[in-house]
Amino acid sequence: MRKTTAEKIYELGSYRVLGSATQYVADMHLYLPSAKFNNHKLFQAKQALESPAFFQVLESRHSCHKFCSEELSLNKIRSLLLCGYGLKSRHGSFTVPLAGGLDVMQLKVALRERGRWGAYDWDHVGYRLNKINRMLSDPNKLFFARSTDISLSSAAIVISANLGVLAKRYTARAYKFACIQAGHIAQNIILEATSLGLSSLVLGSLKEEEIINSFGIISEKPLYAVVIGKNLKE
Ligand SMILES: Cc1cc2nc3c(=O)[nH]c(=O)nc-3n(C[C@H](O)[C@H](O)[C@H](O)COP(=O)(O)O)c2cc1C
Repeated sequence: MRKTTAEKIYELGSYRVLGSATQYVADMHLYLPSAKFNNHKLFQAKQALESPAFFQVLESRHSCHKFCSEELSLNKIRSLLLCGYGLKSRHGSFTVPLAGGLDVMQLKVALRERGRWGAYDWDHVGYRLNKINRMLSDPNKLFFARSTDISLSSAAIVISANLGVLAKRYTARAYKFACIQAGHIAQNIILEATSLGLSSLVLGSLKEEEIINSFGIISEKPLYAVVIGKNLKE
């Protein structure tokens, strides 16, 4: 089938075309303007907050680069997924805003179970986590996160979008819209994870073909991933 422009744009940034593109060795706070940070000013700004509880979640969130190989209950995983992407009203509204209300997003989950990695599909309308009949050898093979051992995390959630369907309405703009929606979903997941006392790391550098083959993805394109687990330091 002919590729849409949105799919062609997607491919330009893929591992197959671009390779690793950078070294990904010390993906830490290298360029942060720490000299500009003023704790007192932040304290004052926080006094004006009308909803300090929400800011507390934002403040507690940070990227985790050392997980400690704990397993998560299916209930916790389900609540992350429901907050990330779930139908929430009979009018077709989801936990994230969707361009034109089109249900084009998909979540797949690599889940640590008794030391092995299982593959799951999130049914965002029936709110079920369905096991896919395949095991994953090592989640590190799916992403670039060389400074982080993903196999020590508890779960990796891959966010994909059906660019073909989105492009029917939005033509080349579909790629941009899909990325924005993936960001909305990831943000909900990392904030829910933080409020559950879990740590997270988002990954934009994916090995798309490995992911597609590992989860048996047919029409969607993987865009973003959220790795969840317990921080070794906590
Ligand atoms: C769009 C995006 C893509 C990212 N991709 C990767 C990645 O491929 N590999 C990685 O190790 N970290 C990745 N990160 C994580 C950032 O490097 C991390 O958020 C950064 O270290 C800032 O730390 P903080 O979240 O604690 O402020 C990505 C973050 C964002 C927002």
